[in-house]
Amino acid sequence: MLLDTYGRTATDLRVSLTDRCNLRCTYCMPEEGLQWLAKPELLTDDEIVRLVRVATAQLGVTQVRFTGGEPLLRPGLAGIVARCAELEQRPRMSLTTNGIGLERTAAALREAGLDRVNVSLDTLDPDTFQRMTRRKRHADVLRGLAAARAAGLTPVKVNAVLMPGLNDGEAPDLLAWALEEGYELRFIEQMPLDPQHGWQREGMITAGDILAALRTRFTLTPEGEDARGSAPAERWLVDGGPQRVGVIASVTRPFCRACDRTRLTADGQVRTCLFATEESDLRGALRGGASDAEVAELWRKAMWGKKAGAGIDDPSFVQPQRPMSAIGG
Ligand code: GTP
Ligand code: 5AD
Ligand code: SF4
Repeated sequence: MLLDTYGRTATDLRVSLTDRCNLRCTYCMPEEGLQWLAKPELLTDDEIVRLVRVATAQLGVTQVRFTGGEPLLRPGLAGIVARCAELEQRPRMSLTTNGIGLERTAAALREAGLDRVNVSLDTLDPDTFQRMTRRKRHADVLRGLAAARAAGLTPVKVNAVLMPGLNDGEAPDLLAWALEEGYELRFIEQMPLDPQHGWQREGMITAGDILAALRTRFTLTPEGEDARGSAPAERWLVDGGPQRVGVIASVTRPFCRACDRTRLTADGQVRTCLFATEESDLRGALRGGASDAEVAELWRKAMWGKKAGAGIDDPSFVQPQRPMSAIGG
């Protein structure tokens, strides 16, 4: 088990497959991109599958989410999924993607054993999309979403970050669209994880703002803590249900007490938290010839040191060195 000193158990592993991305969302990356990891620094497909095997066979991990950067940019993705699906303790597997390329890959990923996808989409307006991502790919994302639904990668969830002056007026329209399409929409409070340090507590759109905007057009009933478990998203039934809307309020309503996550960066470092300031080097251990038992022990030790929470809203908060795209969200 991956236990920490606060009594939490990490059963949910997030694996970043690459730090690269084909969009340049303003809240995530500068126009010119970032200093990407060099290929030899990345975990190989074999190393990833081995770590997932250790995590599931020895450490109690039951769910694996592949993230990025943009995970569809990793050439071996379908192969990694297929090999993880063959493991003795097969984990549930999901993907968090910007949706570009999903149109071509959704069916193959489903076939390989992927269970579901979360797709990022912040706006219904192609021009706003271009302003927010600096790329003209809105239609690709919509087609990717439809392909995921058709392939049975369900429930398909849509992640939207609201940014002041850009898409903050769109919450009710986004929800109406998601209900119509059968996607589960979640709004995410912007977190201080951008390398440009552009995040401002004062200007950010809060869960409170989002719920107030949605309530101008919909009736929302809380789903309740029991249904939530350790999920970051708090959910509400819309107009009596059964469809739902979620809000991931990492800043104003942190959920660290129920956290069940452990993370692997694309270069093989364990992070105990999205906002951790330290990492443990599993890649070094693997490449130095460590046994599975030794790798498991290192991972256990790392998680034992997990802090109580991120404390984004505390005055003492320090943004981690690595940007979101290198941590895997
Ligand atoms: P589901 O299992 O589908 O609910 O996945 P998820 O919502 O945990 O994953 P997803 O990758 O779609 O992440 C949605 C948002 O939640 C992103 O902005 C993530 O950065 C954020 N998020 C995911 N896990 C954590 C976490 O442990 N802490 C915080 N603060 N945010 C998280
Ligand atoms: N704050 C909140 N969410 C973010 N995402 C990327 N950067 C941030 C940030 N700074 C979102 C993406 C994607 C998910 C993995 O995280 O839009 O939906
Ligand atoms: Fe877990 Fe850290 Fe996220 Fe809090 S901020 S929920 S501790 S990963």
